[in-house]
Amino acid sequence: MSFFTWQDKFSVGVETFDRDHKILVDLIDQLHEAFVTGNVRETVEQVLTVLIDYTETHFAREEALMVEMGYPASDEHIAQHQELKQQVIDILTRFRSDPNASMGNEVLGFLHNWLTLHILETDMSYKSFFIEHGTGSLQINP
Ligand SMILES: [Fe+2]
Repeated sequence: MSFFTWQDKFSVGVETFDRDHKILVDLIDQLHEAFVTGNVRETVEQVLTVLIDYTETHFAREEALMVEMGYPASDEHIAQHQELKQQVIDILTRFRSDPNASMGNEVLGFLHNWLTLHILETDMSYKSFFIEHGTGSLQINP
């Protein structure tokens, strides 16, 4: 069984964002796999780097749509993105400075919550707004 799988309850009502979230979930799952198989150093660094890149791409997509559509809570949402981005950058920095530190479970648990809580609480708040504005099946930079 996978460590982290996307579930229907994560659906935020915008297909492109669901697709992005599935990719992020999958990257965190790959990170778990890297720890389990013991192929830690290179793989972890590689997957964390891709996770940071894809997080930036995805957050920028969400932010662009929120601003374009005049989503009322976009400022708070964007501020939370900044914080989340920094947290995952800090994980990579810590890992680079001490790859031997036992950070597996702690980091994986953190990233699992990091994404789940953001989707279920913060992203979910825009769901009805975007659905009402007809953006549900919009394909944004696919
Ligand atoms: Fe978000």
